[in-house]
Amino acid sequence: MEYNFGDDKKSAYQAQFDAQKIAFAPIMFQAARALRNLGILEKIKTCKEGITIEEIAKDLKLLEYGVKVLLEAGLSLELVYAKDYKFFITKTGWFMMADELTKVNMDFTHDVNYLGFHDLEKSIVNGKPEGLKVFGNWTTVYEALSELPEQVRESWFGFDHYYSDNSFPVALPVLFESNPEKILDIGGNTGKFSIKCAEYNPDVKITILDLPGQLKDAYKNIEEHGFSDRIDGYAINLLDHTKKYPTGYDIVWMSQFLDCFSQEDILELLKKAKKAINENGAVYIMETFWDNQLTDAGRYSLVATSLYFTCIANGNSQMYHTNDMYKLIEKAGLKIEKIYNKVGVSHTILKCVIN
Ligand SMILES: C[S@@+](CC[C@H](N)C(=O)[O-])C[C@H]1O[C@@H](n2cnc3c(N)ncnc32)[C@H](O)[C@@H]1O
Repeated sequence: MEYNFGDDKKSAYQAQFDAQKIAFAPIMFQAARALRNLGILEKIKTCKEGITIEEIAKDLKLLEYGVKVLLEAGLSLELVYAKDYKFFITKTGWFMMADELTKVNMDFTHDVNYLGFHDLEKSIVNGKPEGLKVFGNWTTVYEALSELPEQVRESWFGFDHYYSDNSFPVALPVLFESNPEKILDIGGNTGKFSIKCAEYNPDVKITILDLPGQLKDAYKNIEEHGFSDRIDGYAINLLDHTKKYPTGYDIVWMSQFLDCFSQEDILELLKKAKKAINENGAVYIMETFWDNQLTDAGRYSLVATSLYFTCIANGNSQMYHTNDMYKLIEKAGLKIEKIYNKVGVSHTILKCVIN
């Protein structure tokens, strides 16, 4: 795939306006969030004939002043429009209120990222997730995950699961095409996918590789689903490249996982994944590639998520371009046998075999 994107055709008038959108983005983001959380958008949506500021304030028991300033921002955000002092919801307003993609992205931005992003610039300069310090002293967010405040965890998992959950039903038949007996789920997190595999096939055995904190949650979930005899865990820090993986698997599964690592680390992880599979086995990589999106909304979400990796997660990874991953796969001695596009909201699955 080519690495071409965009042009510079807009007028200076439009360009200056767009620059102001960026200049005030954090303020306007909070305005949109308040309009959503305080129920103002919902109220307007239910009034087909339109509703005034005074009526909204009275019904929601809010100060007229507050409703007024938020709605005037909402006009510029194009979340609402006004006619004769009455407000109406726009399509963007509807998405702000009811669209799951927008909801998980906004909650993730506010709860996980907002405070820490003051230090994005420092993170870029130092190559470290300087924003993570707002939560405590960890090297990566993954070590912190099991100990983060509940609201932060909720938004982190809401974000993570939204993207992967929609892809799991498509991924399962792809994985079980070859009738695997043993699967290694690297970065298996809370065990969601492994449990789905065990439900999908009555004989398959799965091992989850992840950090001890995540495995603690996974064991609980596995037990609750009655799969402790078929799913086990292997606690490991995958950044320690001296550590060996268990071997003898038909499939290595890596979902939304490699984006958590720098290109240098990915190469090591892929080499290890190659060693973990049998001669006829396959490594399946499920990723969200920013250049392989069906919508502008998908691409925009991913390039912003890359900066979460920079500032909060680890300081050195991102949502990759397909070309980045193709090169690393080849370097690791694997070759892509099949590409599955349009998986779930925004994923691609790469089936890789030994070259
Ligand atoms: C973004 S989550 C993806 C979870 C799951 N595979 C999915 O598709 O939803 C990445 C996973 O990789 C794990 N991970 C990240 N860095 C790790 C490390 N250094 N060692 C072990 N696991 C790690 C995290 O704990 C987390 O469970």
